[in-house]
Amino acid sequence: MSQQSLSYSTELTRPVNVASVPKRSPFRYPGGKTWLVPWIRRWMHSLPSYPSRIIEPFGGGGIVSLTVICEGFTSKAVIVELDEDIASVWQTMLGRDAEWLANRILDFPFSASSVEKMLEMKPKSMRDRAFQTILRNRVYHGGILAPGSGLIKNGENGNGLGSRWYPKTLYKRIMNIHSVRDRIEFVEGDGMDTIKDISQDKDTVLFIDPPYTAAGKKAGKRLYKYHELDHERLFALTNSYRGDFLMTYDISEEIAQIALSYGFDIEPIPMRNTHLREMRELLIGRDLSWARD
Ligand SMILES: C[S@@+](CC[C@H](N)C(=O)[O-])C[C@H]1O[C@@H](n2cnc3c(N)ncnc32)[C@H](O)[C@@H]1O
Repeated sequence: MSQQSLSYSTELTRPVNVASVPKRSPFRYPGGKTWLVPWIRRWMHSLPSYPSRIIEPFGGGGIVSLTVICEGFTSKAVIVELDEDIASVWQTMLGRDAEWLANRILDFPFSASSVEKMLEMKPKSMRDRAFQTILRNRVYHGGILAPGSGLIKNGENGNGLGSRWYPKTLYKRIMNIHSVRDRIEFVEGDGMDTIKDISQDKDTVLFIDPPYTAAGKKAGKRLYKYHELDHERLFALTNSYRGDFLMTYDISEEIAQIALSYGFDIEPIPMRNTHLREMRELLIGRDLSWARD
């Protein structure tokens, strides 16, 4: 463990250009990890062999699982998520209504009034709920689905409500996910239970991206319906897991200290937030020498 503070390695000064990363998730996910994809590839290459399985206990848009599955690093991903709306999308994409959902998006007559009407409706089935969730994720400010969020006003380049509604792209992403459905298991539940219950299979790796509410951070609370988390317990559970893991956190001295107290390795790495402001996030793992190479 070479890093003892949040000082920055000089080589890691430039954030990843997300335009160069394939987008595979249909979600615009607040806290989504597209920018981390090149680091995930480096992590995979650093392992003695590719893992037989990856588990994402805080799944959200599942970017990391989709990447490692679609790029052939593993043959099995388990995505866990507590939010029922997000769960309805995963269950529909992986189930027999995937094409219905993709077509529903393609055929939806998008306008301010049709969006308003659709979002007011009470979904009668899981697939209706999935469609509503995708729509809301596209037209709500920052893709935020948590209570208190609302419709975007001017949209991208002043193009209004439809500025993030790309039906053909969404169709393709959903059908691509459906095509790898036998390699993805979705669990609607508590990611903490998953970490506690998984077998100590050394070929499984964990990618842990919890809501950021530790050390008084408010972001997670605003972004996610489910944001309460016992962060100390998460570290204790992760410590008792024997396989490899990679965790990301909003940068904070307090989290860095907890990580170091478990003998974990830490590395602050550069990223650009949605407002293109350069920031750092904290990577935590057993040995992050691969991230400094
Ligand atoms: C930072 S986001 C994950 C983003 C994801 N890595 C991506 O790239 O899209 C954290 C997610 O954890 C979910 N969550 C919060 N508490 C949870 C819990 N106890 N179990 C499972 N999921 C939880 C939230 O609903 C949110 O979707």
